[in-house]
Amino acid sequence: MARSHIITGLDIGTESIKILGVQKGKKESEPEVVAFTQAPSFGIRKGTVINIEEASNSIRSALEDFQNVIGRKIDSVSVNLSGSHIFMTPSRGVVVVSRADQKISQEDIERVMQAAQTFSLPSNKEILDVLPKEFIIDGEKGIKEPLGLQGIRLEVEILALGGFSPYIKNLTKAVLDSGLQISDIFISPLASARSVLKPRQKELGVALLDIGAGTSGFAVFEEGDLIHTAIFPVGSANITNDIAIGLKIDIETAERIKIEFGSCFWRGAKKTKKKEKVKKIDGVRLSSAEVQEEPLTFSLKMLGEIVEARISEIFDLTNKELKKISRQGKLPAGIVLTGGGAKLPKIVDFAKKELKLPCKIGYPDGISGLEEDPALSSVSGLVLRGIDFEEEKSLPSFQGGVFSKLKRIFRIFIP
Ligand SMILES: Nc1ncnc2c1ncn2[C@@H]1O[C@H](COP(=O)(O)OP(=O)(O)OP(=O)(O)O)[C@@H](O)[C@H]1O
Ligand SMILES: [Mg+2]
Repeated sequence: MARSHIITGLDIGTESIKILGVQKGKKESEPEVVAFTQAPSFGIRKGTVINIEEASNSIRSALEDFQNVIGRKIDSVSVNLSGSHIFMTPSRGVVVVSRADQKISQEDIERVMQAAQTFSLPSNKEILDVLPKEFIIDGEKGIKEPLGLQGIRLEVEILALGGFSPYIKNLTKAVLDSGLQISDIFISPLASARSVLKPRQKELGVALLDIGAGTSGFAVFEEGDLIHTAIFPVGSANITNDIAIGLKIDIETAERIKIEFGSCFWRGAKKTKKKEKVKKIDGVRLSSAEVQEEPLTFSLKMLGEIVEARISEIFDLTNKELKKISRQGKLPAGIVLTGGGAKLPKIVDFAKKELKLPCKIGYPDGISGLEEDPALSSVSGLVLRGIDFEEEKSLPSFQGGVFSKLKRIFRIFIP
């Protein structure tokens, strides 16, 4: 394999660690997959690293496979940060333009961005990303690029994204302990949005919901910009747990039943009182003593009710967030579902009914040779954002990313 530059994303998920490496092709052509590996996650609860050593071992396991495939070591990755501790704070800054000719300089922009970041935070919280929403010059709103424009008073409205410092430290330590450097950290749903949403959808107004195993990541865009994000501590693994409890079976069997028979809208599809029989599953012993040798029997009605109750809970949380920003049922480009949990049959119809929005499944786009799988949205987005950042850095106008909508506060961990 040619020793060209590989851009790598590391998605630390609750169910699995995913590593994707791509190589940039010729100009204009899509980056191509070089390798993808996946390993089960340990030490991660609801998207958050709670046991550094276990998480680090899981990352190492996926990394060893990855490095075996590419035949060499990699040193740095873009990584995701997840968990319901992630928060978003709007803020505003104001400065007086410094030059005598009143032309706004780079320095004025830096100062106003700094001014917007001077809000008080508890000492155990930190800001990871600052996104300028708009600049305002002498009361004139909606300005995206103020450099060189004339004015006296420069204001900026920003969205600051941050998280609970001990969890951020756990994540960085788990990655560093696995032998990798971190080139950048992105908040999970924003990574997924990068690979799934089209600029036109973001312009019109769209929401993304990445239903993973332990979390559901939510992000809303309008006029091209992020306007809201949140991470819910509920995901598809909760459905599996509910099935295990409801049918009194072990988790492995419950997971298989979910994948094989789970669905929303079981009522319309199956009016009969049909019962499914599941035989002992590939070496998995059923846990309940009574059913250990007997085939397991359960009604699709009961299964459907279990599945719908959890998905309803996720959609209720989604509606609450939409209500906070007055967009309930009001996004022209609707909601896009992605993540492994979006593979549940009929989830699109159920979302349309519960959220009163157009809905579709979002697949990662923009990388050639990648499997069409919604579970790969986040890792693909990490790679694409890694490429965006490299391209930004190579521009002659690069000033540290002030103009970037994805501006980060230089949390670069490469020594
Ligand atoms: N066909 C399917 N039907 C329903 N659920 C599915 C299907 N395939 C996978 N899943 C579920 O998707 C989840 C895994 O998705 P994903 O890989 O996006 O999660 P993750 O990134 O590890 O977790 P998280 O993002 O919450 O930290 C599992 O709970 C799995 O059961
Ligand atoms: Mg995920």
